[in-house]
Amino acid sequence: MRIILCGFGVVGQSFAKLLESRSEDLYARYGLKPRIVGVFDRNGSAIDPSGLDINRLIDVKKKHNSVKKYADTKNSISGIEIINDLEAEVLIETTESNYKDAEPGMTHIISAMKRGMHVISVNKGPLALAFPSLMEIAAYNQVLFRFSGTVGGGTPILDFAKNSLRGERIISFSGILNGTTNYILTNMANGMSFNDALDDAKQKGYVEADESLDLDGLDAAAKLVILANWIMGMKVVMSDIKITGIRKIDSVDIKRAAEKNSAIKLIASCNKELTVAPKEISTVDPLCVSGTLNAISFTSEHSGTQTIIGRGAGGIETASSILRDLIDIRNESTKT
Ligand SMILES: NC(=O)c1ccc[n+]([C@@H]2O[C@H](COP(=O)([O-])OP(=O)(O)OC[C@H]3O[C@@H](n4cnc5c(N)ncnc54)[C@H](OP(=O)(O)O)[C@@H]3O)[C@@H](O)[C@H]2O)c1
Repeated sequence: MRIILCGFGVVGQSFAKLLESRSEDLYARYGLKPRIVGVFDRNGSAIDPSGLDINRLIDVKKKHNSVKKYADTKNSISGIEIINDLEAEVLIETTESNYKDAEPGMTHIISAMKRGMHVISVNKGPLALAFPSLMEIAAYNQVLFRFSGTVGGGTPILDFAKNSLRGERIISFSGILNGTTNYILTNMANGMSFNDALDDAKQKGYVEADESLDLDGLDAAAKLVILANWIMGMKVVMSDIKITGIRKIDSVDIKRAAEKNSAIKLIASCNKELTVAPKEISTVDPLCVSGTLNAISFTSEHSGTQTIIGRGAGGIETASSILRDLIDIRNESTKT
């Protein structure tokens, strides 16, 4: 299985390392022999139709801050040229999520689908802005589109709702989908001011380069869009979500909630409407998780409410979700 990898940052490199470390096992258990034949970052690219040497690729990236020095040639071809010209079965999109125009991920995904490649995305931007059209483009081009890592990192939230609750009708769901704001609110509940809690989260590397994506609820809203489309069959995009972030929460709000044995959490919910907003929830509610954890409760017609809890991010966790998607694509595409 030949792979083109867009972006070679935390997740891209973790995925490449995971492939390397699991190669024998993947072949023995699934008959899967994945090869990364092309990879690019902001500054250049590396290609080898017979498969790139992953250890060398990681060394080159570390030394030169780009994969472009992998080969001894002066120029490397652009990402979009790779997608349009290189032969591959799967494109994996790991560039930054942005919610203004979703580029460059949107172009990468659409171009690959039009060429007949299956696509795995951990980039939420394209899904948040255009989920329904991307599903149509995938169906029209008869390719598979998977995105397990976009919600919950390595915690299989989408798979749980779609597969483990197969046959059930999910009526509503709500959850904590952004670990960074949960970490900040947890620290505030332990007595820190908003600014100190934010500084602490920044020092630990939890906050996105554009802090607004976390603090103003955009990351949580993007995940809500993905869940609502995939699990509930809605056709919604980011502009359909009512979003309120956590910037206005202060120590008085936190104390008032604690007096009622509750905590303030940034809750994304799909009930009568789609909202992301800070809400008071009881400290004995299974959703009331602390630190960077994510949690989501699905309420279904017959089996009641189930909550799934796990780490919502992390390079290796997210890489493991890409591998899950790759195995799924392999299984699905060999059925036809
Ligand atoms: N990290 C997590 O735990 C996690 C969890 C779930 C989902 N995600 C999503 O996964 C994606 C990747 O996350 P990450 O943590 O790996 O981010 P990252 O470390 O910032 O890596 C992003 C990569 O994309 C490349 N890139 C950005 N703009 C580009 C462009 N215009 N053309 C070509 N390459 C471009 C960057 O190139 P340079 O290396 O040259 O800068 C970098 O290699 C994001 O969309 C994120 O929201 C991340």
